[in-house]
Amino acid sequence: MKAIIPAGGAGTRLRPITHTSAKQLVPVANKPILFYGLEAIAAAGIVDVGMIVGDTAEEIRAAVGDGERWGVRVTYLPQDAPRGLAHCVLIAGEFLGDDDFVMYLGDNLLGEGVSEFVRLFAEEKAAARILLAQVPDPQHFGVAELDGDGRVVRLVEKPKSPPSDLALVGVYLFDRTIHEAVRAIRPSWRDELEITDAIQWLIDQGHPVRSQVVTGYWKDTGQVDALLEGNRLVLESVEAAVEGKVDDESRLIGRVVVQPGAEVVRSTIRGPAIVGEGTRIVDSFIGPFTSIYYGCEIVRSAIEHTIVLEQSRIVDIPRIEDSLIGKQVEVCCTRSKPQAHRLVLGDHSRVDLV
Ligand code: DAU
Repeated sequence: MKAIIPAGGAGTRLRPITHTSAKQLVPVANKPILFYGLEAIAAAGIVDVGMIVGDTAEEIRAAVGDGERWGVRVTYLPQDAPRGLAHCVLIAGEFLGDDDFVMYLGDNLLGEGVSEFVRLFAEEKAAARILLAQVPDPQHFGVAELDGDGRVVRLVEKPKSPPSDLALVGVYLFDRTIHEAVRAIRPSWRDELEITDAIQWLIDQGHPVRSQVVTGYWKDTGQVDALLEGNRLVLESVEAAVEGKVDDESRLIGRVVVQPGAEVVRSTIRGPAIVGEGTRIVDSFIGPFTSIYYGCEIVRSAIEHTIVLEQSRIVDIPRIEDSLIGKQVEVCCTRSKPQAHRLVLGDHSRVDLV
């Protein structure tokens, strides 16, 4: 059994964060999303991992390296443009050979991991096993239609009128038959070779495709709200740990992680929350479901249900909620006249002022 992780693509929905960097490396609970997938694959006992990379290849390579940290062997498979998930399988053909494999989308978070899923697939004779999850907005995903016996009969990619509320989770298991499928299909209306169409091809050709509904959480972190939700879900299960400095005038309530070199001064942190390496929290309030990455400075401010990326500064801001703040961003409040909002925002930024 091998694995491939598509970690290319454009990430337009997380702009401007992903104008310059890979969406798979945005941290959730202070760990890049991509690392959760690698951990799950390693935990399932898989060693050979093919990483599909595009424009952000260098950044992904710098973060993941050869995979030794997880006990896996990473082979980088460059993709010239995001031509679809079935195209990822196509270009991974040589790497995969005739082996069964899991395809784990680099921006997906799957609470239950993949070990049980992989175990079931090894026991059965099927061409594919897919995971499904009930969602309120199926039109944003691949959607499955099941028959009365719970068998998958139809899969449609981002349908305008979804046949069910069962979304295709971005973690799939295949045997070698899929290689024939990805060669047989044609690009979709969005000009991508869709994995959904390749699985439909398997069904149409009479190959067994099994499915199961996920029991834990699942998030496709491609959009800001989903990313914050993923952050909330992961933080729900962190254990409190204080490895940095917390002064006597500060209060940590509930499960709070203070990573090495972080400093909390005259502040209150209500968990679950995580404060990254070398970050300073001074005279501030950090509320639940907040992840502040490394090297940040939060002074006289209150932040809740928010992700702050590395080396950002937030000073004198009375309340920030439901936000995603990029790298090396400065958010400050000035008392000088004239009182005005002075903004230097990247393309596609969004600001809600009160
Ligand atoms: O997350 C689940 C959904 O993922 C499924 O429900 C859909 O059926 C499936 O098509 C896929 O939809 P998305 O539109 O969300 O996929 P996205 O383009 O965001 O790509 C997912 C990951 O794969 C992301 O990390 C980028 C990477 N990728 C994507 C494409 C199309 C590549 O590396 N190469 C590609 O060509």
